[in-house]
Amino acid sequence: MAKVVIVGSYVVDLMSRTPHMPKAGETVLGGPFSMGPGGKGSNQAVSAARQGADVTMVTKVGNDSFGDDAMANFKKEGIDKTHVTRHTNAATGTALIAVDDRGENMIIVSPGACGQITKEDVLAAEQAFQEADIVLVQLETAMEAVEQAITLAKKYAKPIVLNPAPFQETSDRLLADITYVTPNETEASLMTGIEVTDQQTAQAAAQKLIEKGIDTVIITLGKQGCFVYDGTDEGWIASGFDVDVADTTGAGDAFNGAFATFLASGIKLEEAVVRANAVAALSVTKAGTAKSMPYKHEVDTFISG
Ligand code: RIB
Ligand code: NA
Repeated sequence: MAKVVIVGSYVVDLMSRTPHMPKAGETVLGGPFSMGPGGKGSNQAVSAARQGADVTMVTKVGNDSFGDDAMANFKKEGIDKTHVTRHTNAATGTALIAVDDRGENMIIVSPGACGQITKEDVLAAEQAFQEADIVLVQLETAMEAVEQAITLAKKYAKPIVLNPAPFQETSDRLLADITYVTPNETEASLMTGIEVTDQQTAQAAAQKLIEKGIDTVIITLGKQGCFVYDGTDEGWIASGFDVDVADTTGAGDAFNGAFATFLASGIKLEEAVVRANAVAALSVTKAGTAKSMPYKHEVDTFISG
């Protein structure tokens, strides 16, 4: 079984449908409300687990009822929660999410407890890093946790996937140790100062990231799929899948959790990106974030159909 270690966020998603996004000062009469597990780290863990990975999650939640829900959810998904700690003072994080009629979203994340994952919390999971096939991190937690995860991955020579979401400034030293980076177009633009609008600009941005020492750059392009570049040729597009959109929230997480799992299972990069695109596409057809992650058998049927 592919062993994936994920250091990242858990927050509760508080999600309202809205006919349109409110402007400053505007109150909109929205549609249905729903609540469920979220946070980029945890969503990626759910995606990975549902694709068959043996997932160890490193995160922090509050000593509150949302924290209890988090623990129950990790258990339900079969995710190892030995390194999910409870903060005695900070509350479990939350995300206020608005999803409009087109399935587009706006999100405000208050990381709460998971914004306070320390170096020591990550170090406590050292053995899991030693046993891992791959390590996956995002930027929704404190940078010291991300840095410690990268240091441990490097110590045991494990491949590391950085999903640079949400965008935060990262040091060149940190980027130099990354095996795969998976920004979307916006994040790629913010990381490089090159506005990514097409394949040519994607390649220019990717080249800049390669020069920082990253091995492979994967820029996700929504339903167009993703642009893959390792600096040796012009790069290529792994095609996406056109599906009926219910809710795009968490599609990037679906991609990242699955992508890490496929690589950890020994699937070649070319196939891993296409399969991960399929996982993301299936997640978009359902409402919600973690709960919309597809299972392996659904992906198999989708791809062969
Ligand atoms: O990527 C989607 C996630 O971002 C949501 O689940 C929300 O919690 C925010 O962290
Ligand atoms: Na979804």
